[in-house]
Amino acid sequence: MLLEIQTRKAIITMQFKKLMDFSAAQLAGQRVFIRADFNVPQDDAGNITDDTRIRAAMAGVRFALDAGARVMVTSHLGRPAEGALLARDSLAPVARCLSQHLGQPVRLVPNWIDGSFVVSPGEVVILENCRGNVGEKSNDITLAKTMASLCDIYVNDAFGTAHRAEASTEGIAHHAKIACAGPLMAAELAALTTALANAKRPLVAIVAGSKVSTKLTILEALADKVDQLIVGGGIANTFLLAQGAPIGKSLAEPDLVEEARRIIDKMQARGAAVPLPSDVICAKRFSADATPTLKAIKDVDADDLIVDIGTDSAVALARTLQTAGTIVWNGPVGVFEFEAFSGGTRVLAHAIANSPAYSIAGGGDTVAAINAFGIADQIDYISTAGGAFLEFLEGKTLPAIEVLKQRASI
Ligand code: 3PG
Repeated sequence: MLLEIQTRKAIITMQFKKLMDFSAAQLAGQRVFIRADFNVPQDDAGNITDDTRIRAAMAGVRFALDAGARVMVTSHLGRPAEGALLARDSLAPVARCLSQHLGQPVRLVPNWIDGSFVVSPGEVVILENCRGNVGEKSNDITLAKTMASLCDIYVNDAFGTAHRAEASTEGIAHHAKIACAGPLMAAELAALTTALANAKRPLVAIVAGSKVSTKLTILEALADKVDQLIVGGGIANTFLLAQGAPIGKSLAEPDLVEEARRIIDKMQARGAAVPLPSDVICAKRFSADATPTLKAIKDVDADDLIVDIGTDSAVALARTLQTAGTIVWNGPVGVFEFEAFSGGTRVLAHAIANSPAYSIAGGGDTVAAINAFGIADQIDYISTAGGAFLEFLEGKTLPAIEVLKQRASI
């Protein structure tokens, strides 16, 4: 733990170059390439349903623009096939949204990798979905060098993608003349590092989601650190199975029951706990109009689906959160998108909001729940990241940050 705190302190004091440390004179006329994370949710018609990530990246774009830089911004959107972008993969809706926020036109540049486009000082263009470039995912060195040749200053402002070593997040930073962190990247790192290095106890983590398999490493890492590990959703079902509880036909991963048991034992051995629900909301169908039924865990029937935690469990969780010193939240505890099954997540959200603990939240579903229950102002720090947020909590090295560190003095 001591080593970990020292490592985190080192990260706080780590010298990145930062975009905001450049003067207007240094930026004027320069080709500034910003890698943002505009991987935003969209409806079936392609409309952006939550522009939080775009708004969060505005500060860096505005800063470069106001200094008179030639600004290029790119991002991935979804996970398209390289070399075969479809209409739905396009950043066109993002360009429109950015244009509205900036109050100036934002041109979308398709097929930009050949560099056959010109950006004027004080202009911002969006370079089409960078995952359309062949070699992006494999961090191809030729692609990274070509991208680097398009700019004078590379800015990584995409904390949400910092765990990916891709050509536009990691490779390019080795070859650009200057590589630095944008203001969002710097703010995310500072907030998370400070909160965790000085975490006030008890430290309570809420990790919920559909599968243990996708969050096993974070569950294992947290099992060594936190005082209470609250699991929810399909993850909780696998933990309930590990305790021999009936879960009917609920989503679970029986082959990971042993891992779940190991985590429970590990926590118990050091006086920590994985509090599991004593009651749940069940439905016979996964549908917004299915009838919710409150049941004690022991009464869950073979044809039941667990869709939320029950009222007693929600009250118990709220009590735990009231006495927490630090809360880390990733994932809703029920199917909160359906009104009938949203009660548990609503109680949890308000309990976090009203707790005196320092609270950190991250992940797409979590941010959606925070917005749905209108508690954004009462969470101390909301990360724009999902996977990167979890890997950072795990203490993993994030490659896109590591390279900025290496380039600090070169
Ligand atoms: C996210 O939405 O978590 C980030 O944009 C990363 O997306 P990815 O998992 O497709 O790399």
